[in-house]
Amino acid sequence: MKRQQPRRPFVLVNMAMTADGKIATANRAVASFGSTRDHEHLLQLRATADAVLCGARTADLNPVQLGPGAARFRRLRLRRGLAEFNLRVIVTGNGTLAPDAEVFAHRFSPLLILTTHRARAPRLKRLRALADAVKVCGREQLDWPRALHWLHEKWGVRRLLCEGGGELNSALFAAGLVDELHLTLCPFVCGGKQAPTIADGAGVLHLAAAAQFNLVSRRRVGDELYLVYRAGSDGS
Ligand SMILES: NC(=O)c1ccc[n+]([C@@H]2O[C@H](COP(=O)([O-])OP(=O)(O)OC[C@H]3O[C@@H](n4cnc5c(N)ncnc54)[C@H](OP(=O)(O)O)[C@@H]3O)[C@@H](O)[C@H]2O)c1
Repeated sequence: MKRQQPRRPFVLVNMAMTADGKIATANRAVASFGSTRDHEHLLQLRATADAVLCGARTADLNPVQLGPGAARFRRLRLRRGLAEFNLRVIVTGNGTLAPDAEVFAHRFSPLLILTTHRARAPRLKRLRALADAVKVCGREQLDWPRALHWLHEKWGVRRLLCEGGGELNSALFAAGLVDELHLTLCPFVCGGKQAPTIADGAGVLHLAAAAQFNLVSRRRVGDELYLVYRAGSDGS
C-alpha cells in the first residue's frame, strides 16, 4: 500500500548551548557562543531547508537575517533543487514584533508571520505591512499542526529549520513536531535561573510525556560537540 505523504514539513531544531544547557545569558544579551565552525554548521543546515523559523524574542533581540549566507551556500541550495533563498518565518502570539528588527530590513526572500487571535486588528495590520504573509492559527497559542500544514501546502515547505528560542522550541517539542534535533555543545557555563534553555515553557511532569530522541551522530571539533538526535524511542 502506498504510504500517505506527510502533510507537514520535516522539522529540524538547531541550537548552540553551553555545557549547562543555556542558549543565552540570563539577561539574554549574549546568545552566540558557538565558534565559526558552528556558524558554518548553521549555514550548512539552512542550505538543506526550505524555510527558517524563529520566535519573536529571538528576532527582536538579535540582528538576525535568517538568510542562506554567502554565495556558495546559495549555489549549494540551487544544486539541491531548492530556491536560492530560504523563506523566513517568525512566530508572535500577540503580534508585537519590533518593526525595526534587523530581519525586516532585508527583503531577499519572503517573510511569513505566524500569529494567533491575541493579535488584534491594528496589530495584524502592522504585521501585514511588515511581512509578505500573515497567518492567524490558534486562539492563545499557535496551533502548530495547522501552521505547519499551511507552510507545507501554501508555501511548499518540506524541510523547516527552527532556530529557537526556548519558548518556541518548547511548543514544538510539546506538540511532538520535532523530527531532528541538532545541538552544538559549547565549552562555557553561564548559569542563571533566568537564562533560557533549548526548551522553556511549562515543561512536562512525567518522563513519559517528554519528547524522546535517539542519538544518531556525535562529532567533536575542537572543544565543541556536534550532536544529532532523531525523534523516536527505539533504544538504539
Ligand atoms: N544559542 C542559540 O542557538 C540561540 C538560538 C536562538 C535564540 N537564542 C536566544 O534565545 C533567547 C530567546 O528565546 P525565548 O525563549 O526568550 O524567546 P523565543 O522563543 O525566541 O520567542 C518567544 C516569543 O515567540 C512567540 N511564540 C513562541 N512560541 C509561541 C507559540 N507556541 N504560540 C504563540 N507565540 C509563540 C511569542 O511571541 P509574542 O511575545 O510576540 O507573543 C513569545 O513571546 C534570546 O536571548 C536569543 O538570543 C539562542
